[in-house]
Amino acid sequence: MLRFFYEHWIMIDNEIQLTVIDRDDKEHVINAPTDMNLNIMEICKASDLPIEGTCGGMALCASCHVYVLSDHELQQPSEDEEDMLDQAFFVEPNSRLCCQIRIQDQIDGIKVKLAPVS
Ligand code: FES
Repeated sequence: MLRFFYEHWIMIDNEIQLTVIDRDDKEHVINAPTDMNLNIMEICKASDLPIEGTCGGMALCASCHVYVLSDHELQQPSEDEEDMLDQAFFVEPNSRLCCQIRIQDQIDGIKVKLAPVS
């Protein structure tokens, strides 16, 4: 990622950018480090976005349900994630549990929208 810093463009190679659309349709552009083994749910919580993350990222609650709006190639959902999404509300074909999406270079520029809460 290129970032403008003190009147110079510098290359930051351990950071990506993601866009999260909240439930009021407001876009939040967030920079996230790729070297801390974080996931999108943790980044949303750290950015004070309204996401519960009740189970702490174990794919057991679906409180981190999002819709992936960009066309990034993501890792296929695990059986646990699919089972949890089967029990969630407002599920769409692009639904994912964002605690299962690791912050890594491959998702630079990803755009997600928070799913409604039931
Ligand atoms: S935080 Fe519970 S399923 Fe993602």
